[in-house]
Amino acid sequence: MKLQLLSDLHLETEDFDPEPAPGAELLVLLGDIDSGWDALARFRGWPVPVLVVAGNHEFDQRDVDATWPALRQRCDDLGLTLLERERRVLTDAQGSRIRFVATVRWCDFDLFGEPGRATAMRAASYYMRVMGSTRHGAPFDPAAVREEALDCRAWLAAELAQRGDWDRTVALTHFAPSLRSADPRYGAQPGTASFCNADDELLPYASTWLHGHLHCRHDYQVPHAHGATRVVCNARGHGRKGEAEGYDPLRLFDV
Ligand SMILES: [Fe+2]
Ligand SMILES: [Fe+2]
Repeated sequence: MKLQLLSDLHLETEDFDPEPAPGAELLVLLGDIDSGWDALARFRGWPVPVLVVAGNHEFDQRDVDATWPALRQRCDDLGLTLLERERRVLTDAQGSRIRFVATVRWCDFDLFGEPGRATAMRAASYYMRVMGSTRHGAPFDPAAVREEALDCRAWLAAELAQRGDWDRTVALTHFAPSLRSADPRYGAQPGTASFCNADDELLPYASTWLHGHLHCRHDYQVPHAHGATRVVCNARGHGRKGEAEGYDPLRLFDV
């Protein structure tokens, strides 16, 4: 299936006009599109189906649990399909059935194992405060994020292990599944655990894994016993920081 992949457009501050990619059968939005949700309206009437996975910024200044039904309603109203801890099987132009499994997959801060967890959580706390999200009336702090992340991880592992009536599997997450997706500008440091999870052992269950959150582009293969998994990030990021240089929003990915 040929799909167009957009994430991290950050239209709450960025000046960017998304356009449909010629030849795409599907558009996948992988989060941080607009923290205010207004710009989701730009995808109303899109010529192909649109799958939406939330990013962390869709929760800015909001209660996490209250966000889900509201964001789902917003997407429904615009004709977009929000997926969270859900599977969708779609048939492409060649008749292949592709299983999409989707979750925000928040960060669990175990990227560097248990010994690195406390440092990673400390490194995240400032950004969590800036996000201003809450859950159960308390700040959505690194401990709360980790709890949610582990729920996502458990769902993802169980879902990926399922067998069914599909030809291949594409994982959709906002956060990255591997340290290999670290932003080369920052490398491996405690803060990287706020961006990548150590989900490498889940990669072989998907033929392709699409993610966002890192404001850079990736397209790499991870070999394993059954072949290889392709990992792709096509985030735009912030133009004022030079992150959008070389970005191709019309690029098609064959999954
Ligand atoms: Fe982002
Ligand atoms: Fe993000």
